[in-house]
This record gives sequence, C-alpha cells and structure tokens, in this order.
Amino acid sequence: MLGASRTSLAQARERGRELAGTSGVDLGPLSSGRPGGAPLLGAARPLPHTKGRAMKLYRCRICGETYLGHGVPTECPFCGADAEYIVLTEDYPEDVNDVQLTEVERADLETSIELETSNTRFYLAMAARKDNPKLSSAYKRLARVEAEHCSVFSKLAKMPKPADLLEPGEELGTWEADIDESLRRENLASALYAEFAGRATSPRLREIWSAVSRVEETHIELDGVAKGYI
Ligand SMILES: [Fe+2]
Ligand SMILES: [Fe+2]
Repeated sequence: MLGASRTSLAQARERGRELAGTSGVDLGPLSSGRPGGAPLLGAARPLPHTKGRAMKLYRCRICGETYLGHGVPTECPFCGADAEYIVLTEDYPEDVNDVQLTEVERADLETSIELETSNTRFYLAMAARKDNPKLSSAYKRLARVEAEHCSVFSKLAKMPKPADLLEPGEELGTWEADIDESLRRENLASALYAEFAGRATSPRLREIWSAVSRVEETHIELDGVAKGYI
C-alpha cells in the first residue's frame, strides 16, 4: 500500500511539473518553482521600486525611531522631522538624550509636553468624527505625530508620558472651526519651540526644538490642504 501511494505521489508531482512547464527540472528543496528561480528563503528579489538598492536601517536623530527602507525618506514617518535628521543606525549615538537640563530648559520641556498632549488629544477628537473619513484619517495621523513629539520631550525630561495622552479630548463641532483651531495651535507650537530653541544652552535641545518647530510649520501647511476636503 505504502509503495503504491509513493508511486502515485511521484506521478502526481510529475504531472504538476508538466502542467507548470518544469518537468524534468530539479527544483531543489526550497525553490520558488521557476526553473533557475530564486530560493524562497535567503536572498530576496529586489522590488521594482527600489531600483536594486539594498535595504538599510536608518534612525531618526529627533525621535530615535528606526526606519527600514531602501533610501532616506523625505521626512521621518514617525515624528515628521526633515530628512537631514535621518542617519544610518550605526551613526546614531545611543546616549544622544543624556542631557543635563537647566531650570529654564526643564520648564520649557514641561510646557512642550503639555502642549503636545493637548494637541494630540484635540486631533484624536477630530479623528473620531464620523462625517468625513478622509479628514478623520489625516488628523489621526497628525495625532500620532504629536504623540511622538510628546514622547521625545518626555524622554528628554526623564518623565513618563502623560497617562491621558491617547484619550480623545474635545473638538468644536465643525471641521471648519476645528481646522481653524488646529491652525492656532500649530502657529503657537511652531513659534514657542523656535523661542525655546533660541534660549536653550544644550546643543541637543536646540536641535530638537528647531526640528520640531519646523515640523509644526508643515502642519500649518496641512491645515491649508485639509480645508480643501471639507
Ligand atoms: Fe523621527
Ligand atoms: Fe508637535
């Protein structure tokens, strides 16, 4: 019986190869099934959009998150920092956030944490609205970026993230009013962080506040774009 089933299995395999046009070809133990094809495990075929570039590990100097990709993105997908802050993982200093804070820097970090928490919660409330999925999705993304900023500032202040960071706050009832409120918040954040960068004595804190101030400027641009989707 066993011998008979082995024979029929071999016949079935051969029939399958005939149908696949690979009859008589040794496919090897872990082959993709194409004659001379790449093995399924090990070396991956390059994806068409990578133009043969190897995947690398990058790290954002601002948020510290790792980006896996075939090149440097135009901005950090997590905190929105400009491409100039994205480095190869081997060039990221693990102790980059070991900063001795002055009293003014600590107070400014605490203000930054409060601001980012309030903005994250406001955008989560906007994202929870049901009447415009495109805008809800856009502000959900914005909430995640602001939450990442809150993480960065909390790390630098060596404080835990606020417990209510991801609890939706209150929105104002219409997209128009909410986007105007977002514009007010982003203008305030951008100006405040530029001021904090200007008076910080630590080069690391100057780098962080300058980078995040520029990210908030791009959010002002986003609010302008969002108005076209009301
Ligand atoms: Fe980042
Ligand atoms: Fe922010």
